[in-house]
Amino acid sequence: MGDSKDRRFWDKISEKYAADPIKDMESYEHKLEMTRGCFTPESTVLEFGCGTGGTALLHAPFVKHILATDFSGEMLRIAETRKAEAGVENVTFRQARLEDIDPATDGPFDVVMGMSILHLVRDRAETLARARDLLKPGGRLVTSTVCLGDGFWFLIPIIPIAQALGLFPVLRVFGAKRLKQDMQDAGFEITYEWRPGPSKALFLVARKPAASSGSQSA
Ligand SMILES: C[S@@+](CC[C@H](N)C(=O)[O-])C[C@H]1O[C@@H](n2cnc3c(N)ncnc32)[C@H](O)[C@@H]1O
Repeated sequence: MGDSKDRRFWDKISEKYAADPIKDMESYEHKLEMTRGCFTPESTVLEFGCGTGGTALLHAPFVKHILATDFSGEMLRIAETRKAEAGVENVTFRQARLEDIDPATDGPFDVVMGMSILHLVRDRAETLARARDLLKPGGRLVTSTVCLGDGFWFLIPIIPIAQALGLFPVLRVFGAKRLKQDMQDAGFEITYEWRPGPSKALFLVARKPAASSGSQSA
């Protein structure tokens, strides 16, 4: 399944995704609060895989600007409607993959957010390196990630079948330990970690060191 097929999957389910209520509001609110701990009123923020934009719109009053991106035009169409309804002016939605965001012209950012997305990208190492290159030294990467490797091994034989039937997009299976190691390998220092339960999404705040040892791509 390539990028365009993945994109079609998300386009197709966008209305349902927008209509589904947040399952664990208490955890969601804790993540909002911890994310806001990384903001100042002058912060410039990038969110990748922003979906229908709810999180970006809630954070908007706490920062200078949020560039919220997603590769699904249908997700962003809903996000634009929500933005107009909320009267928010400092969020820009853009149809893009993370690799389309140019550190030279769009960045650097104080905070990069990726909520419920790292298990959905084809090349996690490349995504984390890109996030690092888009951050200012000392900037924060805030993520929440479904770690299917921790307790969901039964899904492994099902995933390719569900993908062939168009029921799943690309889905990577890894555990919390692997994800944290990947972040460290990308040059991040994990400063906060929280998981509301063993099978719940892992919330991580990671810092790009002030003098990054990671390579900087163009
Ligand atoms: C599970 S939803 C999460 C949406 C939102 N971040 C949230 O927490 O509700 C995943 C989103 O990532 C987007 N997405 C998946 N793969 C992507 C990629 N490679 N580049 C950009 N967006 C992607 C999908 O279109 C979808 O809107």
